Amino acid sequence: SAKSFTTIGHETKDHPIYIEEWEQLAKEKLKKGPFDYVRSGAGDEKTLAANRAAFDKWSIYPRVLRDVTDATTRTKLLNQEISLPLLLAPLGYQGIIHPDAECASARAAEKAGIPFVTSTVSTRSLEEVAEAAPTGKNWFQLYWSNNREVSASMVSRAEAAGYQAIVVTVDTGLLGWRKSDFKNGFAPLKEAMGDANYRNDPAFRKSVPHWTEENIREEILKNILHPNLVWEDLLFLREHTLLPILVKGILHPDDAEKAVDLGLDGIIVSNHGGRQLDGALASIDALPAIAARVNKRVPLLVDSGFRSGSDLYKALALGADAVLIGRPYIYGLAVSGEAGVTSIIKNLQTELDLTLALSGANSINELSTTNLIQTGC
Ligand code: FNR
Repeated sequence: SAKSFTTIGHETKDHPIYIEEWEQLAKEKLKKGPFDYVRSGAGDEKTLAANRAAFDKWSIYPRVLRDVTDATTRTKLLNQEISLPLLLAPLGYQGIIHPDAECASARAAEKAGIPFVTSTVSTRSLEEVAEAAPTGKNWFQLYWSNNREVSASMVSRAEAAGYQAIVVTVDTGLLGWRKSDFKNGFAPLKEAMGDANYRNDPAFRKSVPHWTEENIREEILKNILHPNLVWEDLLFLREHTLLPILVKGILHPDDAEKAVDLGLDGIIVSNHGGRQLDGALASIDALPAIAARVNKRVPLLVDSGFRSGSDLYKALALGADAVLIGRPYIYGLAVSGEAGVTSIIKNLQTELDLTLALSGANSINELSTTNLIQTGC
């Protein structure tokens, strides 16, 4: 059947179409502390800016006069069908954004047929999120705890709640230099918006000698940051779970190689949306060397700075299997809850679908570097 571009995409006309407009509306709706927390990057925000600018180095090299009636964004990730190669990245503390928090985001992802990654520091507990989206492709992101028992316990709970993959974030040994949060005196942990997974955890409860509010916060902070985490620790996790383990926060091909060598199941190229190491290279700049090294041995994902169908297309052509978005869906959540997240996903899907077809491609799998040409430096 003929492609019907009129029926997909921007159907909710009362919603913005520009991400910048969503951002502006979110800014008007949220208090300064939470809004700046979401928007900002570390240091002088060089990496935050580089994440966007780097897309301009590549241009799409289109082909014409090919039948693209059946062009589709459907693809497979970790042996599962997904409606488009997109995931909602783990973003903690979503209760500072909207009362429905992660439950709304997870439901939107469930309806769209794409994975939602629940953060360790989610406002709603991982069990609650899974319950809100029972048929969703739910993944759990682990902030490695200094206390192995706590890490193991959270992963076991994620398994029990039906999560399908574990994402270990490895670029947060220490918290980045977040100037706007210092200036605003804003710390989401202080708002008690990211402690549900700890408060409910039997291993964590056992580890806090005196269960006072002050102690709990301090212990949680000690649990989130892990400057002593090394590769060998991930072997412990590998032995502890049968779920696929993806490592998030890789920028160097040698580290990607190490992850594959250790038997991990996927790599997420990321600089944490420019929120951790300022001055680090853009994710899309890190991608080609990592794709070459990994050479399709494990799924390769990427995030940081993706805002359009054309951005997604470029990463897929450079060797990524899927892309995660962070801030865009959070702006949708801030403005319109679940419906806002749905709008963001739908528009990206439509834009990717169109980009694919207009470039002369029919599927994600056929994309390669031949679909791009380097026009900038
Ligand atoms: C994040 N990110 C993040 N990553 C993670 O592994 N665990 C987490 O809890 C969080 N929390 C979080 C909060 C907020 C407000 C932001 C903006 C980001 C990083 C996130 O998963 C992802 O890497 C980036 O958001 C991707 O960049 P974009 O799409 O926001 O540019």
